[in-house]
Amino acid sequence: MTPFSVLSSAVLGLALQASPASSDKELVRTARALFGVIPAKAPAPDPIAAEQLELGRKIFFDYRLSKDGSTTCVRCHQPQFYSTDRLPQSAGFNNNKGARNAQSILNLAFQDVVHWRNDRTSLEDQALRSFTTPLSFGNASTEEAVKRFELAGYAPLFQKAFPKAATPLTLENAASALGSYQRSLTTRAPFDRFLEGDVKAISPAARKGLQEFISVGCVGCHNGPAVGGRSLQKFGVFQDYWSLTKSSTPDKGRYDVTKQEADLYVFKVPSLRNITETAPYFHDASARDLATAIRWMGKLQLNKDLTDEQVASINAFLESLTGELPKSFREAPTLPSAPWAGPEPL
Ligand code: HEC
Ligand code: HEC
Repeated sequence: MTPFSVLSSAVLGLALQASPASSDKELVRTARALFGVIPAKAPAPDPIAAEQLELGRKIFFDYRLSKDGSTTCVRCHQPQFYSTDRLPQSAGFNNNKGARNAQSILNLAFQDVVHWRNDRTSLEDQALRSFTTPLSFGNASTEEAVKRFELAGYAPLFQKAFPKAATPLTLENAASALGSYQRSLTTRAPFDRFLEGDVKAISPAARKGLQEFISVGCVGCHNGPAVGGRSLQKFGVFQDYWSLTKSSTPDKGRYDVTKQEADLYVFKVPSLRNITETAPYFHDASARDLATAIRWMGKLQLNKDLTDEQVASINAFLESLTGELPKSFREAPTLPSAPWAGPEPL
């Protein structure tokens, strides 16, 4: 799918007809066509895939792989904050600051766009570049990054996870393992039980909010199983976004990647799963709370002044999207130990 497509016209037609649903059962049917269930259990991976996934998990949590021991994926994607860091801007190696707010890495299996500006082609591409960028792990070269994996005792784990590879320990394989691990991290929420037909799994206020979310038009961009993550859209369709966000130096979004006029102020439509847990909001962390983010979205994207009641209602729906963290993310893994006789320390 292309990042720019919004919704197929058939589905959008359904959304427009849907207001207000005459019964809860009808609301379930409509919602099922617009969103998608996160299943209770993913199919079990085969033994090799399981080794790769577990290797990715260890890398995600291992600070020893960065140049100064300060940084790994989990520094900015913390379980206690639903895989964000709750900072306006993240800091990595040497406290170097990135330009944008850290995104969630949950439910990426249901998303197509990677990064706020879609400047990474895949999860693997994203991970691969992290090992050597000064904003993240800070290793000066591929060789230096590989050596850090060796020093931390990873060679046998790569052999087990990539048994057919001539050289198992490569950054490409590390990135591939991280991709498998991240795709396994999904958070099933009360809304999924609702979509399966258990109407009472979410409160009456959340059901009203869901109707509002559909009829007001939020669903035009935030749809699919992740309630977003499938397209790029202009931030500020009806007025410059900074007129509300007061961002001091407006980020031009995807334009800075492609230099195409059509990409000016275009950003990823984020997933709204677990959104109650990941403040502050927007690429520049300009909204401190969810009610503000909802109100600004109404104005900027739909040219609507949402009432306090509408905002509260949509907020109640969004609460029903907060799910349970998988154990493989909630709990830190056991890390390998450094080999007794290994390479010279860096
Ligand atoms: C220094 C903090 C930091 C570290 C370390 C870090 N990230 Fe991130 N991550 C971010 C920020 C900030 C963004 C948003 C970047 C952007 O779009 O400009 C992000 C975005 C992402 C995304 C895109 C999610 C989406 O919704 O599109 C993925 C995937 C991701 N990180 C995975 C990882 C992995 C895997 C690692 C470890 C190899 C890692 N990150 C290390 C801060 C960090
Ligand atoms: C035309 C497409 C579009 C519509 C319609 C839309 N959004 Fe968004 N939404 C976006 C984009 C793009 C962003 C990211 C903006 C940024 O940070 O640069 C976003 C971001 C958000 C965020 C912040 C997410 C985060 O992780 O920081 C929330 C919350 C949100 N939208 C809720 C809503 C609600 C509620 C509605 C309906 C009132 C709505 N959106 C309508 C495109 C849309």
